[in-house]
Amino acid sequence: MFELKTTLGVTKSILYSELSAQVSGLLVNERDWLANTANISAFLYQGIPGLNWAGFYFLRSSELVLGPFQGKVACVRISLGRGVCGTAALRRETIVVPDVSQFPGHIACDHNSKSEIVIPLVKEGILIGVLDLDSPLISNFDQLDAEGLGQIMKLLIAGTDFSGLI
Ligand code: SME
Repeated sequence: MFELKTTLGVTKSILYSELSAQVSGLLVNERDWLANTANISAFLYQGIPGLNWAGFYFLRSSELVLGPFQGKVACVRISLGRGVCGTAALRRETIVVPDVSQFPGHIACDHNSKSEIVIPLVKEGILIGVLDLDSPLISNFDQLDAEGLGQIMKLLIAGTDFSGLI
């Protein structure tokens, strides 16, 4: 199948296979959830083209609360079912939004954000939170990002001790 190259000069399939290998390396010898999510937010922000925000929200009671991130100051609390993050968390489904202005209830933390992807983190049936990436470009994310980031979140979940958080 023909795949467009990213601005880094590689296809998304190659990009995500390289990012996954490097995330595995980052997770060696460290299982602390705060350290791992902080490093992975920085790593994804630097490694994926076209981002203006990358970070985590964690479930506390029935809301998502801001976790480690890279980018501008963001909304701190998001109720389950609200915005892209709360909807992905409630449905436990990855949501790709090519144009945030077309997503009813989208929460605009930064008016420069034009597209978004949110991946839920579920460990042994328990919802931990979500990974949220934003882009100032329309349609920056697609199914290849959903699959690649889903794989990276599986590595994070398998390699991290979330006790104390959940
Ligand atoms: N846009 C998100 C809110 C979080 S920020 O983008 C960092 C949403 O609609 O849930």
